[in-house]
Amino acid sequence: MSIFDDVNNWEKKEGAELISSMISVSDPVILDYGCGAGNYSFAAANAFGKKCKISAVDINKQCLDYVNEKAANEKLDCITTVVGREDYKHDFEDNTFDLVIYADMFHGEEKTYGGLHRFVMIEEAKRTLKKGGVLAVLPFHLSNFRDKDKEKAKYTYKKLIDEISGYGFTYIEKNLEGIHFEKVYSPYYQQKGGVTFESLERGKFLIFGK
Ligand SMILES: C[S@@+](CC[C@H](N)C(=O)[O-])C[C@H]1O[C@@H](n2cnc3c(N)ncnc32)[C@H](O)[C@@H]1O
Repeated sequence: MSIFDDVNNWEKKEGAELISSMISVSDPVILDYGCGAGNYSFAAANAFGKKCKISAVDINKQCLDYVNEKAANEKLDCITTVVGREDYKHDFEDNTFDLVIYADMFHGEEKTYGGLHRFVMIEEAKRTLKKGGVLAVLPFHLSNFRDKDKEKAKYTYKKLIDEISGYGFTYIEKNLEGIHFEKVYSPYYQQKGGVTFESLERGKFLIFGK
């Protein structure tokens, strides 16, 4: 069994359970912004099937091609891919989504506005979520984060929770764990070998209500 089989199995079982436990709506409208290979979109599609609508957004066309092909093979027509914007704003109406997923989207590197894109993304989640909707954030690389003055600032879950709460979100303690999928698709790690599904980093999904 390859790591891709493990990932597919995760999307069908643990991933689907993970997304189901984030929200109580049975026919949700979902945004997976910066979807990459779409692991969280596929987990959501497996959780809710035809009843849900998922917008899988990425700026990288290759990611969207990958997601489209896999969605067609798996007959998951609840997933629609959308090209993202440079400025991380969403081309969606206010009050559209029941769930917004930002998995491994908050980084501190200079290339992404000195890490400041996360503030735009939090504002956009606030605008596009329905009242009572849920924002699910899976942060990695907390030690690379920058504060609003672009200064390196060692973030903790608590500091990030306080920051997001400052935008009017309510933190909901759920104890949910997500996976850092980056190494599965990275050519560097693929060439190096030795990456197993079990060895992938796990992290806490921070859940917020609007
Ligand atoms: C670290 S990956 C995370 C992928 C996925 N969410 C996951 O957890 O596996 C970051 C993704 O954000 C995408 N991205 C970067 N800038 C973006 C933008 N402005 N709008 C939409 N997607 C963007 C990248 O192409 C990449 O697929």
